[in-house]
Amino acid sequence: MKGYHDIVGDGGSRILEQVAEQRARITDGLAGVRHLVAVGSGKGGVGKSTLTLHLAGALRALGLRIAILDADFNGPSQARMAGVQGALFVPPPSPDGFGAASGSRKVALPRTKDGIAVFSMGSVIPESDALEFESVAYGESHTWRATREFALLGEILGSFEWGALDLLLFDLPPGAERTVQYADFLGSRTAFLLVTIPSEVSRGVVARSVAALSKGPNRVLGYVENMSGYYCRDCNAIKPLFPSPLDDAPNTPGTPRLEIPCLGTVPFDPVLARHCDGGIPYEELPDAPVRRALDSVAKQLLEKLP
Ligand SMILES: Nc1ncnc2c1ncn2[C@@H]1O[C@H](COP(=O)(O)OP(=O)(O)OP(=O)(O)O)[C@@H](O)[C@H]1O
Ligand SMILES: [Mg+2]
Repeated sequence: MKGYHDIVGDGGSRILEQVAEQRARITDGLAGVRHLVAVGSGKGGVGKSTLTLHLAGALRALGLRIAILDADFNGPSQARMAGVQGALFVPPPSPDGFGAASGSRKVALPRTKDGIAVFSMGSVIPESDALEFESVAYGESHTWRATREFALLGEILGSFEWGALDLLLFDLPPGAERTVQYADFLGSRTAFLLVTIPSEVSRGVVARSVAALSKGPNRVLGYVENMSGYYCRDCNAIKPLFPSPLDDAPNTPGTPRLEIPCLGTVPFDPVLARHCDGGIPYEELPDAPVRRALDSVAKQLLEKLP
């Protein structure tokens, strides 16, 4: 039996050529996209997916051409939030008008009611199922899985019709370490928008993501503070949702400071939560503080883009 020392070069796998081919397909597929922005945090459940979709909606309302790639393959939420669950992926017709498309043609993406193109694993796999990757060795799925996930991301970038876009938004999964892996994979063209909530715990995790990202070439545009108060319809006022910072309290660690620009604050509004669950688009949000906050953040984001 051969050990890995005995393998010469790439062992005949053509791995380097395969990687180069995939990179070329990705570069080609994204050639018509002006800006790539990843919405991350490090922290889970802070509203990355919600802000990705509804900032996309606010930007779409300004006339921009937008697509979303839900890069959270294990916990995809864009399919439900964007109302594209069970969407059909239509391969382009073959040149003779019949049958399957030739290998080089790209697959069209489903769109939301307001015209945002969305790829989400949740359109392909029902919520009752989990995404499974076969592992080559029992107990080793953790190493295998990350490799397969990024290979899948590359396939998605290379196979779908992203076309001419002003902005492609990536909805990232949680995890400070994963955020950096996405930065590495997506390359320096991709800028980052980070999301926090007004808790010390969340700011601390986001501060770690900022520190980790600062070691690489990706621009960090700034952060959005989501769930910044609770919008009460009965009293038409924004009430505190999280306690104020611990800065002045004795014997407690200080508030972690985020040394990046704040692009705005977005209150918690139960109407937005309901719209996310029901796949109701941004355009149907009532004129309320949450909608105005999303509009303002969308404009701030545009100003940060070159
Ligand atoms: N400003 C808001 N107003 C009302 N509901 C919100 C708001 N922000 C987020 N939510 C709700 O909070 C929940 C968590 O949000 P979301 O799924 O966007 O977080 P996430 O950071 O993407 O989570 P994960 O880390 O699992 O990907 C969702 O049900 C969403 O609808
Ligand atoms: Mg999410």
